[in-house]
Amino acid sequence: MEKFVIRGGRPLVGEVTIGGAKNAAVAILPATILAGGVCVIDNLPNISDVAVSVRILAELGASVRMLSKTAMEIDTTHLRPEPVSDELCRQMRASYYFLGALLGRFGYASVAMPGGCNLGTRPIDQHLKAFREMGAENSVEGGYINLSTVNGVQEAHIFFDTVSVGATINAILAAACANGTVVLENVAKEPHVVDVANFLNTCGADIRGAGTDVIKIRGTKNLHGCEYSIIPDQIEAGTYMVGAALTGGNVLIRNVTPKHLEPITDKLERAGASVEEYDDAVRVWRSGEIQPVNIKTAPHPGFPTDMQSLMGVLLCRAAGTSIITESVWESRFRYVEELQRMGANIQVNGKVAVFEGVPELQAAPVRATDLRAGAAMIMAALAASGVTEIEDIEHIDRGYEDIVEKLTALGADIRRVEFVQSAGINQVG
Ligand code: UD1
Repeated sequence: MEKFVIRGGRPLVGEVTIGGAKNAAVAILPATILAGGVCVIDNLPNISDVAVSVRILAELGASVRMLSKTAMEIDTTHLRPEPVSDELCRQMRASYYFLGALLGRFGYASVAMPGGCNLGTRPIDQHLKAFREMGAENSVEGGYINLSTVNGVQEAHIFFDTVSVGATINAILAAACANGTVVLENVAKEPHVVDVANFLNTCGADIRGAGTDVIKIRGTKNLHGCEYSIIPDQIEAGTYMVGAALTGGNVLIRNVTPKHLEPITDKLERAGASVEEYDDAVRVWRSGEIQPVNIKTAPHPGFPTDMQSLMGVLLCRAAGTSIITESVWESRFRYVEELQRMGANIQVNGKVAVFEGVPELQAAPVRATDLRAGAAMIMAALAASGVTEIEDIEHIDRGYEDIVEKLTALGADIRRVEFVQSAGINQVG
């Protein structure tokens, strides 16, 4: 097993380059199935969720070749619509995109139940509702979700009951090659939803309205391969922005889309950080005190729930009281207990947490309770006095590429250490 060992107290200073968006990559990789040809995907992040998506494609018969550190050629011409195994699906939430992609190309799909971060109940009723309205029967047998149609995906007008990123993207995937037009209403508008639509349009699909409340898809047969570069990761960028603000550092964050960062930039500036925007970079620094800020998470363009724990760490050190309201997930304050070990003063009541700023965080043994909470623990450790050890870091590897190398280049003291867990004693190896 591995853990991070971090000596805190050094400001992050320098430059960091952001990778491709995890949440776009894990949808665009299954979407290559619809192309039924050769796609070259660039700006792929080097993270374990991408590795799992690629393994699923390979198991289904796609041929996959790395062209560079970030570019991959994927040929889905001879891909077979076989069941997608439980072992791989359990490792990430986004395995459910293979449902929409296989259904869209072959008219049927069988995919094991998805895994992913534990953020409370994570239903997929809206995905299944969309598939049903497009003519797909669904059943769950032996842990697999099975979808089948009589004559492929049919035209439909779907109104989602709740705004869901996953259901929106899955419906787009299923509808891209439909027999007719599919209209989706009350959809998610996240940048990665737009990126998936742009990728499919580059493959010859006819998808309009992504990024607005209504998406219209005219089903197109015979999509083809293409070359496509994935958008930069909004949350990885936000993580380094918080790191710069929290540690009182000064970081130029390259390969970002500043427009996608606006909700984060706004809260950081209110918290006393300075943010300067360039065409494809932002610089973040802080010299004065951290100010308290109230935050309510919401679907895009609201404040992203995936940044909630990271902003929480910053507000632990504010000069006053801040309130964070989590309105997307039912259980996303599990990291609070870990921060309390480090001396944070936080009270949680359901979906609301009250952060009383403290003058200092102190090192403690903590855990990454999920992907973003894990990144938040790293940031807390960077700002704390002493040496913090973080376990369960496989969650962090799902979504952050080269995090040790990137933070080290910014002056952090962070090491990845192997250890053997035996009878409650950690032996560092
Ligand atoms: C995606 C992101 C995740 C982010 C979340 C919200 C990926 C791989 N993951 O997750 O990092 O936190 O968006 O921005 O892109 N819901 C239902 N029924 C459904 C689907 C969702 O009730 O069928 C509810 C969920 O319980 C949740 C809310 O809708 O309360 C939003 O979920 P959704 O947008 O679907 O999140 P994911 O796509 O799973």
